[in-house]
Amino acid sequence: MKKTLLVMLTSMALSASALAADAAAGKVKAQACAACHGADGNSAAPSFPKLAGQNARYLVKQMEDIKSGLRSVPTMAGQLDAMSEQDLENIAAYYAKQKGSVGQADPELVQRGQDIYRGGISDRGIPACTGCHSPTGKGNASAGFPALSGQHAAYTEAQLKSFRAAADGDSSGRMNDGDETKTMRTIAFALSDREIKALASYIQGLH
Ligand code: HEC
Ligand code: HEC
Repeated sequence: MKKTLLVMLTSMALSASALAADAAAGKVKAQACAACHGADGNSAAPSFPKLAGQNARYLVKQMEDIKSGLRSVPTMAGQLDAMSEQDLENIAAYYAKQKGSVGQADPELVQRGQDIYRGGISDRGIPACTGCHSPTGKGNASAGFPALSGQHAAYTEAQLKSFRAAADGDSSGRMNDGDETKTMRTIAFALSDREIKALASYIQGLH
């Protein structure tokens, strides 16, 4: 019994060290991504997400989901096919170390966005975003909850609408938020277009 446990622990330690991430190697691999995501992960086009400063755990999960097709990103078709698990860890380590840029919120929408982000909408069962994404939008690295701070509003809006579409039965919508919890699908399903716009705008300026 004790021996089995020891063998298990040793092999776990070995597989963990085999995946020790190498950000310098990740930087080289990430050159293939620069045209869309920017050399340091701060993309110029608002429909391409910023990856700079995002936590590694979330990045690895998204790359795995995109590679397997669980999250459908036609624009990235083939990009990750030749990447090993180690490459994904390395790329994630590189982006996680970069500093994410922050944009500006639309003054017309910022108050509504802030109210929902910080307080949710309790009579409609919508939780505050702060609990998982943190008050400053830095996310929760150890849990793998994504940082949202400074993300392009157009991208955030598209993601929330995509989660919402999936919750409404659209099979092209985003549904990689966990089959049991369906956290983001459930939240997005309860949000109106206007509320999504306000949240996305607030998040673009959040830091
Ligand atoms: C041709 C443009 C393009 C290229 C090249 C590209 N991507 Fe993407 N990537 C996108 C788009 C567009 C999305 C968002 C799609 C959506 O709306 O869901 C995305 C999403 C992502 C996400 C999810 C981000 C998040 O916040 O959830 C990750 C991670 C990612 N890409 C990594 C990479 C890596 C690593 C490479 C290089 C190996 C790469 N991408 C190359 C266009 C591109
Ligand atoms: C209980 C925790 C929790 C709460 C509360 C929560 N989220 Fe999330 N959110 C997550 C997780 C986990 C993911 C990543 C899902 C995945 O793996 O694809 C996520 C993903 C997202 C994404 C996609 C990020 C990207 O880079 O593609 C957006 C946008 C988002 N959440 C916005 C919000 C907003 C706005 C609120 C508040 C109205 C909110 N979330 C509340 C846990 C939460």
